[in-house]
Amino acid sequence: MHITTLALLVPLVTAAQFLNTSSDPFSYIDPLIGTVNGGHVFPGATLPFGMAKAVADVNTENQGGFASDNGDITGFSHMHDSGTGGGSSLGNFPLFPQAGCPGDDVNNCHFTERDRATKRINGTVVASPGYFALTLNTLIRAETTVSNHTALYRFIFPDTINGETSNPLILLDLKDLPGSRTNASISVDASTGRMVGNGTFSPSFGIGTYDLHFCADFMSGLKLKDTGVFMNNRAGSEPKNLRTYADGIDSPAVPAGAWVQYNGDESPPEVIVRVGVSFMSSAQACANAEHEIPSFDFNATHEAAEDAWRAKLAPVQIDHTGVNTTLRKVFWSGLYRTMLSPQDYTGENPLWESEEPYYDSFYCIWDSYRSIHPLITLVDPKSQARMVRSLIDTYRHEGWLPDCRMSLCKGYTQGGSNADVVLSDSFVKGLDEDIDWKTGYEAVVKDAEVEPPIWSVEGRGGLASWTKYGYIPVDDFDTAGVGPFTRSISRTVEYAYNDFCISAMATKLGHEDDATKYRQRSGNWANLWQADRTSVIPMNTTDPATGAVVQGQKNTGFTGFLQPRYLNGTFGSQDPLLCQPLLDFTACYLNSNGHETYEGGSWLYSFYAPHDMAALIVRMGGAESFVARLQYAHDTPNLLYIGDEQAFLLVYLFHYAGRPALSSHYAHKYIPSQFNDTLAGIPGNDDSGAMGAFSTLAMMGLWPMSGQNVYLITPPFFREVNITSGITGRTATVRNANFDATYSTSIYIQHATLNGKPYTRNWIDHSFFTEGGVLELTLGLKESTWGTADADLPPSLSTTESS
Ligand SMILES: *[C@@H]1O[C@H](CO)[C@@H](O)[C@H](O)[C@H]1NC(C)=O
Ligand SMILES: *[C@@H]1O[C@H](CO)[C@@H](O)[C@H](O)[C@H]1NC(C)=O
Ligand SMILES: *[C@@H]1O[C@H](CO)[C@@H](O)[C@H](O)[C@H]1NC(C)=O
Ligand SMILES: *[C@@H]1O[C@H](CO)[C@@H](O)[C@H](O)[C@H]1NC(C)=O
Ligand SMILES: *[C@@H]1O[C@H](CO)[C@@H](O)[C@H](O)[C@H]1NC(C)=O
Ligand SMILES: *[C@@H]1O[C@H](CO)[C@@H](O)[C@H](O)[C@H]1NC(C)=O
Ligand SMILES: *[C@@H]1O[C@H](CO)[C@@H](O)[C@H](O)[C@H]1NC(C)=O
Ligand SMILES: *[C@@H]1O[C@H](CO)[C@@H](O)[C@H](O)[C@H]1NC(C)=O
Ligand SMILES: *[C@@H]1O[C@H](CO)[C@@H](O)[C@H](O)[C@H]1NC(C)=O
Ligand SMILES: *[C@@H]1O[C@H](CO)[C@@H](O)[C@H](O)[C@H]1NC(C)=O
Ligand SMILES: *[C@@H]1O[C@H](CO)[C@@H](O)[C@H](O)[C@H]1NC(C)=O
Repeated sequence: MHITTLALLVPLVTAAQFLNTSSDPFSYIDPLIGTVNGGHVFPGATLPFGMAKAVADVNTENQGGFASDNGDITGFSHMHDSGTGGGSSLGNFPLFPQAGCPGDDVNNCHFTERDRATKRINGTVVASPGYFALTLNTLIRAETTVSNHTALYRFIFPDTINGETSNPLILLDLKDLPGSRTNASISVDASTGRMVGNGTFSPSFGIGTYDLHFCADFMSGLKLKDTGVFMNNRAGSEPKNLRTYADGIDSPAVPAGAWVQYNGDESPPEVIVRVGVSFMSSAQACANAEHEIPSFDFNATHEAAEDAWRAKLAPVQIDHTGVNTTLRKVFWSGLYRTMLSPQDYTGENPLWESEEPYYDSFYCIWDSYRSIHPLITLVDPKSQARMVRSLIDTYRHEGWLPDCRMSLCKGYTQGGSNADVVLSDSFVKGLDEDIDWKTGYEAVVKDAEVEPPIWSVEGRGGLASWTKYGYIPVDDFDTAGVGPFTRSISRTVEYAYNDFCISAMATKLGHEDDATKYRQRSGNWANLWQADRTSVIPMNTTDPATGAVVQGQKNTGFTGFLQPRYLNGTFGSQDPLLCQPLLDFTACYLNSNGHETYEGGSWLYSFYAPHDMAALIVRMGGAESFVARLQYAHDTPNLLYIGDEQAFLLVYLFHYAGRPALSSHYAHKYIPSQFNDTLAGIPGNDDSGAMGAFSTLAMMGLWPMSGQNVYLITPPFFREVNITSGITGRTATVRNANFDATYSTSIYIQHATLNGKPYTRNWIDHSFFTEGGVLELTLGLKESTWGTADADLPPSLSTTESS
């Protein structure tokens, strides 16, 4: 491990400094934000990047397990993903408690998911870092906390149920949330109640299957009454084990599992259940559980989880003075959600043997490269380095960098090979920490040069055309591999940026020829630019004579958009508005009936040339016209959707046109109106925390141009923000002078100093964070000339030699 002398001299911020209640970030973390309205956030108990993620599962919008809707609770399960747009993930082997079986007959208990589903009592949910609890309508209180690979539950039962004494029964069902289980097995120990077993499941947004194993132990002051298994809706105390399969007809598979029952001879009857999980074996699941939570101590496990979170948050310090609770909660909850995934499965990967770390739930890199990984790089660079090592090791053993990966399986690629951006981002920022950059470079070059036979799950399609024509033709003829032959525009602009990132790595590694080759290919986005293409939007008018509404349209006045292009060089046509909210919004999802852009239209993608915004601004008719178009995109109702990750960049592109004040203006337009502390407070799927990372970075006032060593400067939403490097131990401070916590108007930088010296560039690089320093911004009521001169703009390929 690489330890600098500096790290020894400058102590890291300690968790203890955070025990000051008035500034304790825990009071501002609400894990329930984004649990309705499609946020799909996992609000349960987890450690930072932990594998065990425990929560109550509902039978409604259960992508993240729980939702704050009126769904029924169907179980308490131990692993989840957060914020996914795909199907529900994981949720394997749920437990379900019942206070007793009517007539004390085990067959009168409810075994199937449909029969046992129970509402919660409204107002009983408690969620905080490392903890989740609620009370079922059956008056059973359920609490959960976790360690890295083990979930711990405390079920407290009522003394009586319908006049009968409680004889608590807890079942474990061999299902998962998507209902994907095929074969599985379980056995229950008659003397201890220990259950062990396994099952085969499918990933939620990818191909293949995975096997998962568990080990459940029960601890109670109560006497064990009986144990057994169940199949379909019948249960018995013999046999003590079963093996089951998909019957080929029922989907999901026929319910099966095991149960334990206690004599409720204590008040209140309470049972603690410890569930270890492992991808390796049930023996390892038991060993994980025994090692991590030896004494079933719920409170101690909860406290350890809280300590782990405090330590992770400690590198960030905020002066909250004057800022309201809404904004504090948006900031800290967003940072918290950024550290749910990727999940650390080191030691839990049965696919290959390696000394390298193994992370999973890169779900998906298309979402996470823009905000999540740059934020982790700032607040927890050591974890980011381990994630990069894991990506490179996955390349080593699977042959390709993943674009999306979950549950040990390959997930679907949505656009470019965007792991290239993640690697480049860490590389150009100087992250070292035992990363094998030689192999990392080999991996990104393979993305650019070798087409995989199935490019729907890795790499890129259309590489022959890419090198021959310099774009992905809408009618591409490509026999080298298969994938959805759609998205020719969005794939072209993403491949171009991926190639820029490779060229940046090549430059720093001294591979001159590669650097030139990929720099040239990074200009390919312009090959789909149709200079005379215009765009109309719908506009209704009222007929003055009849008063009737007449549906019509008007020209937006902006010329030049990305358009599909055929193999023969002729342009095709896709309405630039298609797949923006104003026109057939959902027509560009990931399937073979899709269009030439992905989850958005040409209006959105025509702004995507992050490495050469200067050239794009020229194509859009110069800075003034560019700014007018970008403002039009933000200001026209339902033109731009901020709830999908490609839109993040559009908030900040004003910097490239010399108008950094407008970036600040629009950041405040969206936060808190679209990113707030309500249950619905995320405008789209959180996608493993991507939305949370966006609002947190925006509020820090430093927008990372992911893949480049560039942060665009806007005023933080707080008087002062400190970030202490986990590698050098140095602190970077961004401070607002003339800070106005009510944000009435004072959000524009008038002038700035870096370590006391005037600073006019509207961007800064990563050395600010590794070396530390103070960036002081003086704010005022009006846009100023700060950061507007050509020399102050962030680097662009066509105007800057190198960044
Ligand atoms: C706690 O935080 C408040 C506000 O940030 C500060 O005024 C106070 O001095 C702190 N107290 C301690 C004991 O650090
Ligand atoms: C509980 O809350 C949900 C929405 O959160 C609501 O639909 C339902 O009616 C409430 N139930 C009761 C019994 O109030
Ligand atoms: C959990 O795993 C992380 C690595 O992801 C490790 O740093 C941490 O020490 C582990 N926590 C415990 C309590 O073992
Ligand atoms: C699952 O458990 C059964 C019973 O112990 C065992 O025979 C089987 O090999 C296990 N499957 C896997 C994939 O480990
Ligand atoms: C389930 O069956 C498949 C195919 O026979 C096998 O590969 C897998 O190991 C089995 N899994 C379990 C958990 O038994
Ligand atoms: C655990 O913590 C709860 C709440 O803080 C407390 O009421 C309870 O007494 C504690 N239990 C033990 C065994 O320490
Ligand atoms: C930021 O760090 C500086 C020292 O590096 C310290 O003086 C200041 O109080 C810190 N600010 C906050 C908000 O904790
Ligand atoms: C125009 O009117 C139609 C019919 O009332 C409505 O569906 C549509 O949303 C309106 N469009 C705009 C842009 O206001
Ligand atoms: C190019 O191909 C497209 C699609 O096949 C066709 O519509 C167009 O006419 C062709 N252009 C020329 C110049 O041949
Ligand atoms: C909070 O954010 C959601 C999602 O963007 C939005 O629909 C809602 O109007 C916002 N609520 C408030 C009070 O700003
Ligand atoms: C918090 O402050 C922001 C910025 O002034 C404002 O938009 C928002 O409405 C405030 N929220 C509450 C609940 O006061």
